[in-house]
Amino acid sequence: MVAFRLPANSRIDRSGRVFKAAPGAKDVRTFRIYRFDPESNDNPRIDTFEIDMATCGPMVLDVLIKVKNEIDPTLTFRRSCREGICGSCAMNIDGINTLACTCACSGLGAEVRIYPLPHMPVIKDLVPDLTNFYAQYASIRPWLQTRTPAPPDRERLQSKEEQEKINRPSACILCACCSASCPSYWWNSDRYLGPAALLQAYRWLVDSRDEATGERLDALDDAFRLYRCHTILNCTEACPKDLNPALTIAEIKKMLAEREH
Ligand code: SF4
Ligand code: SF4
Ligand code: FES
Repeated sequence: MVAFRLPANSRIDRSGRVFKAAPGAKDVRTFRIYRFDPESNDNPRIDTFEIDMATCGPMVLDVLIKVKNEIDPTLTFRRSCREGICGSCAMNIDGINTLACTCACSGLGAEVRIYPLPHMPVIKDLVPDLTNFYAQYASIRPWLQTRTPAPPDRERLQSKEEQEKINRPSACILCACCSASCPSYWWNSDRYLGPAALLQAYRWLVDSRDEATGERLDALDDAFRLYRCHTILNCTEACPKDLNPALTIAEIKKMLAEREH
């Protein structure tokens, strides 16, 4: 059922701490960061960090690493590659779901708000619980399914045109920025697969080597799993890899419609 207010224990209280920049800092930017510690009984709070950008790298991820290394080692966030490849540093920065490692502070205002991806349970601070997201990804069977035995002496070949069809959707890094920006997913993430899983489903539907197209379409032909997409397009707007999940969802609907006739 849709709830329009956060549960009482999820509402942000006013106890946030403030860490001032050192006296004499010349290029100060303020970061207001969501904090939640599941081991305390406290509600979430917003801590304020004044950072001297003259002593910090240019990206939001650099700021988080500086805070963790030099100010508050309890600050918790995910990151790995720091170059937009692993998808693990996805978070909400000034109201936009994006990757902290590719988000330049210079493009943001003097005060920057950093929250975890929205409408997902929070494990700690900026780390959302992606269990459901990954289970949905697994449910679309993201691997090649074939019945024809593989040739003994070579790979299963594709033409250049066939390969190009999977090029773009294969570039998805499963960061979840799109799904966490989709209103349909916010309200129905238990039953609607969301744009990331559907984009991945499309990637296998258009793979010329895959031989389970019929079964894949059967599994998607559902009022919730696929058709909860109402083409609101937040997903495409949010994708930091410039992919178009909304278009691929429309393509899946078209494949299903064409199959009926
Ligand atoms: S186009 Fe579909 S998947 Fe994308 S945000 Fe809208 S409802 Fe969600
Ligand atoms: S489609 Fe884009 S926003 Fe969505 S999971 Fe993939 S890379 Fe992230
Ligand atoms: S750290 Fe890998 S995408 Fe940001």
